[in-house]
Amino acid sequence: MVTVNENFAKLPGSYLFAAVAKKVAAYKETHPESEIIRLGIGDVTQPIAPAIVEAMHKAVEEMGHAETFRGYAPEQGYAFLREAVAEHDFKARGCDIAADEIFISDGAKCDSGNIQELFSLNNIAAVCDPVYPVYVDSNVMAGRTGDYRAATGRFDRVVYMPCREENGFLPELPAEKADVIYLCFPNNPTGEAIKKAELQKWVDYANAHGAVIIFDAAYEAYITEGGIPHSIYECEGAESCAIELRSFSKKAGFTGVRLAFTVIPKELKADGVSLNELWLRRQGSKYNGAPYIVQRAGEAVYSAEGKVQVAEQIARYMENAGVILNGLRSMGYTAFGGVNSPYIWLKTPNGMKSWDFFDLLLERAGVIGTPGVGFGPSGEGYFRLTAFGTYENSQKALDRIKKM
Ligand code: MLT
Repeated sequence: MVTVNENFAKLPGSYLFAAVAKKVAAYKETHPESEIIRLGIGDVTQPIAPAIVEAMHKAVEEMGHAETFRGYAPEQGYAFLREAVAEHDFKARGCDIAADEIFISDGAKCDSGNIQELFSLNNIAAVCDPVYPVYVDSNVMAGRTGDYRAATGRFDRVVYMPCREENGFLPELPAEKADVIYLCFPNNPTGEAIKKAELQKWVDYANAHGAVIIFDAAYEAYITEGGIPHSIYECEGAESCAIELRSFSKKAGFTGVRLAFTVIPKELKADGVSLNELWLRRQGSKYNGAPYIVQRAGEAVYSAEGKVQVAEQIARYMENAGVILNGLRSMGYTAFGGVNSPYIWLKTPNGMKSWDFFDLLLERAGVIGTPGVGFGPSGEGYFRLTAFGTYENSQKALDRIKKM
């Protein structure tokens, strides 16, 4: 008789954003007249930039003609896109990353969930707390963790690195064994960034302890301040200890288009085995490449017009971030992030529980955010709002919160 992967049974509840969506749907049922403003999941609202749409149209045309039609894409992605990425995202920042160290995919969520397959089940994963839930969930499903402890909100055999106001939302180097270390900067959910000198400490630690850092840089395009690395490869020695995840979702509004990439330097080895070769082997068996049309769209992100248009979009989202951050602070809220990231991380008033604040905001203001505790136990008492709404809705949400 078939049996299921019992690791799934260790997962409590449903996926965070699915739980939020379910609650909102239930509220809409009983309050059909309510006009809800969604500042919950980090989903973009601006349309795809014209230079990118044009590139997609052109690629669609090509697909309709025998001479230019394309079938399966190369498993690692088309060279035209990998070369553009290597040039604009890495060489331009002084990072020594080549096109054959880049793996194009259809999303950083899949990559961040799948990447753990490279590591043995004996390895211990270390995560920031709060954290993007995919890193933990995927390790649980794989069987790398122990059981979930409801009393602490933690899984056994996972190292949690609390990121709180007291430590500036920066994790401390783990005192216990940690083999695969997940770092996300600018951070989801806290919206705080890490300075280059701080990140260098993690690279040095990983190299000294034989650990691998999975560096999620999905939000690098939102960095506005100097001294903050856009890539972990800006740090010395990162090529021998770090994998980087990038996404076009937030950089160019591709949440519905689907495109991302993972960087695995050739120098990166575990047990003397090249992780670049291992991932290529994995992709060969399990993946058939992002669509040609989408990869041409990705290439257009790096064109002269594409760069300008995408930068304008990001600036508009960051204007929203300023409205939300400053608006909340002027009302007396303690709020973080929003300067190098599209996320604002606010402290709930009077130590209210995150889900209680979610209900309050929904009922009194018709505004949806994400409860901090959904990202981990250290997120309790916090709440995340995104700047990915429209300017009007960001303003309106603030007005409604003020009147609450
Ligand atoms: C978020 O809201 O944290 C992200 O949009 C989720 C994701 O990128 O999968």
